[in-house]
Amino acid sequence: MKTDLKPLLHPVPIVLIGTTIKDQVNYTTIGDVAIAGMNPALIMISLHADHLTTEGLLEHGLFSVNTPDTSMLSKVDYCGMVSGRDVDKSSLFETIYDLEKTPYINNAVFSLICKVENSMQVEHRIIFVAKVLKTIVRDDLYTNDTILYNNISTILYGLNNSYYDTGKVIGTGYKEGKNL
Ligand SMILES: Cc1cc2nc3c(=O)[nH]c(=O)nc-3n(C[C@H](O)[C@H](O)[C@H](O)COP(=O)(O)O)c2cc1C
Repeated sequence: MKTDLKPLLHPVPIVLIGTTIKDQVNYTTIGDVAIAGMNPALIMISLHADHLTTEGLLEHGLFSVNTPDTSMLSKVDYCGMVSGRDVDKSSLFETIYDLEKTPYINNAVFSLICKVENSMQVEHRIIFVAKVLKTIVRDDLYTNDTILYNNISTILYGLNNSYYDTGKVIGTGYKEGKNL
């Protein structure tokens, strides 16, 4: 058995966090994101304390979590390579503003408008727990009150530093176990 200190979950979704810091829109790529509850609707994200995005969250409290599709891959990677402290990343995507001018990406697969409820620091990391105030689904993926999940191709990331697209359906929740 091989062990090391990696938090080995594979793969994880990649999202873009949208914030406004001192009136400037910024988008940053993260993989450290998770659903923290369905009711109330909560998510968790973990950010390096030095990121501009972290400053935005601490300053503003409101932010967006944008799920990109695979066509956005190079912009997604770029947003994880450069800081808004050095480069203006605001024009990479078309921005729409929601609650209290929270920026989100037009044409993202999903955008969640979130409000920080709590945070804790572990060494150089700040972990934010946020309430999802609003969920926006791209028009072509939503019809008759249904999300067309099978038409969605999002970006996943592995600790081998590789990006993956969404795989194929292999089963149905709360059903496959009935075969046992
Ligand atoms: C695939 C990928 C995943 C990343 N995941 C995270 C993450 O989960 N948390 C984090 O703090 N930084 C993460 N980063 C690094 C930040 O996106 C990067 O340092 C960025 O430049 C910070 O920008 P900012 O200062 O504009 O916020 C990731 C980068 C990439 C390319």
